[in-house]
Amino acid sequence: MTAQRNQVSNHIRRALRCVRKHSPLRPRLAILLGSGFDSFAHTLTGTVRIPYARIPGFPETRVAGHSGDLVLGHSGDTPVLLLCGRAHYYEGHSMGEITFPIRVLAELGIESILLTNAAGGIHSKHRPGDVMCLTDHINFMGQNPLRGQMQDGKPCFVDLSSVYDTQIALELRRSARLCKQRFHSGVYLAVSGPSYETPAEIRAFARLGADAVGMSTVPEAIVAHHLGLRVGALSCITNLAAGRNPVPITHQEVLTMGRNLHGQLSRLLQEFVRRHSSKKTRMTP
Ligand code: HPA
Repeated sequence: MTAQRNQVSNHIRRALRCVRKHSPLRPRLAILLGSGFDSFAHTLTGTVRIPYARIPGFPETRVAGHSGDLVLGHSGDTPVLLLCGRAHYYEGHSMGEITFPIRVLAELGIESILLTNAAGGIHSKHRPGDVMCLTDHINFMGQNPLRGQMQDGKPCFVDLSSVYDTQIALELRRSARLCKQRFHSGVYLAVSGPSYETPAEIRAFARLGADAVGMSTVPEAIVAHHLGLRVGALSCITNLAAGRNPVPITHQEVLTMGRNLHGQLSRLLQEFVRRHSSKKTRMTP
């Protein structure tokens, strides 16, 4: 385990060197762009794009519709770092691999991260095209990304009673209102995938308190929270969850809905960055 950990810290050091070599920009805000949110990257100015394949330790993304680039640039006047695409657990990556970029971001000086994803709507009020800000999550992935990680010789018994930052949630809500975007707050349940759920599973998840279901985000949120980052997360409801609609769910449907919304979601993220970086909305300690 120690040799493995040293290997990870070597990778982090090498990844840091690589990113710093490409750009002098030192953003404090990062956004992970999942399905539907990726076109926000085109709204940035003065960008430097680094393919994940060039960054030591970064996992490959193998899914159609998910590019794999780290982008540094400005949204308005605000320097931001984007992770365009993510590696998923269902692709066969380990929890350590999919959360590695978050560890690099923390070392780069990122203080806040917004994680975005596509999700199936469980709540009866959800319609395709809505967004949901995460207030909490249920980890049904069967794995914890902190497993095997030690801190001061002890396992990471991290408190997860407030993973998602309420100030970021407020900024998202206000941004959505300004963009006339249908907005919900709720609980995201993460499954490992890659199959979609059965109607019986969705009925069970609803009873457990889940409002939306997806195959990502929770591992990154846990690691980012553990590393002291302020975490926000936003789902694009691309489809109704299994059984809530008579037609089968397809990956193509998820991608197409994401693409149809790209202008709207880009505007929402631009407004979010503006609010987040303005002094007025900063949380007083
Ligand atoms: N289930 C799981 N993951 C998803 C879904 C879904 O219905 N839609 C988008 N990602």
